Amino acid sequence: MTEHEQDIAYEEEEKRIKENVSKINHRIAVFSGKGGVGKTTVSVNLAYGLQSEGFSTGILDADITGPNVAKMLGINSELIMLDSKMIPFEKYGVKMISIDSLIPSGQPVIWRGPMRSKIINQFLADVEWGELDYLIADLPPGTGDEILTIAQQMKPDFSLVVTTPQEVSVIDAERAINMAKKLEIPFIGVVENMAGFVCPHCSAVFELFGSGGGKSLAAKYNIPFLGSIPLDIDARIFADNGKSIILEKPDCEVTQIFKSIVTIIEENSQYKLQSMEK
Ligand SMILES: Nc1ncnc2c1ncn2[C@@H]1O[C@H](COP(=O)(O)OP(=O)(O)OP(=O)(O)O)[C@@H](O)[C@H]1O
Ligand SMILES: [Mg+2]
Repeated sequence: MTEHEQDIAYEEEEKRIKENVSKINHRIAVFSGKGGVGKTTVSVNLAYGLQSEGFSTGILDADITGPNVAKMLGINSELIMLDSKMIPFEKYGVKMISIDSLIPSGQPVIWRGPMRSKIINQFLADVEWGELDYLIADLPPGTGDEILTIAQQMKPDFSLVVTTPQEVSVIDAERAINMAKKLEIPFIGVVENMAGFVCPHCSAVFELFGSGGGKSLAAKYNIPFLGSIPLDIDARIFADNGKSIILEKPDCEVTQIFKSIVTIIEENSQYKLQSMEK
């Protein structure tokens, strides 16, 4: 491809991204500084929570080197292409795209930043998302290329920064908050995960990762603290089996916390729409 042809292809892709993104009312980026703190768990459960409230919802797995969304949704079918568009997978109405469904199982994706950004662009440009109320991007840990691409191309209106209460996680989450601010994402909220574990035998609460770190971080930056999710064995078991605690155990504490975060997201979406109408 000549340089000129490359420029044209790039411009056309930008156009397709704009067109696709314009049909999505609200775009949420879920990220953190630290790995393994529960970004994918939060993304999947919020997607189900929003969908069950009647909002059409999709998840874009923007974690190219460690994609877990397909596994947590229990999706293992093959991608369907139609007129050069990717048809997103669907679970209980939630649409989803992930590199995990495009490569052989267990194979690593050994790509440098620009290649990872390129595939995210394709997920935005060439997936038939249709009209959506919410699209959630589940990001890898850190503040690298993926979040930059999502910020520039998907233009999120919400960023949910996930942290455990532990200091090493909170320090990294602070970097994520500052990145969201630099990227001018309008709404930034903190979700604390793995906050305490209730022993199923004696009901004693063990604060494995400490307590209060997420709340203090939100207070320091004067941004909303969205909720504190405890460690829950069922949440882990359901995730490993492609199921969601929010659908399987509608009355448990973890579900109630996810639902309250869904309510905050809905309220902010309403507020955003009203201020746009003015
Ligand atoms: N509240 C919770 N209770 C029990 N297990 C949890 C909870 N939150 C997450 N987990 C489990 O912890 C592990 C890490 O969670 P998850 O994959 O969502 O983190 P992540 O931040 O997306 O990780 P990565 O940085 O690798 O993308 C998973 O096995 C998940 O099932
Ligand atoms: Mg993840």
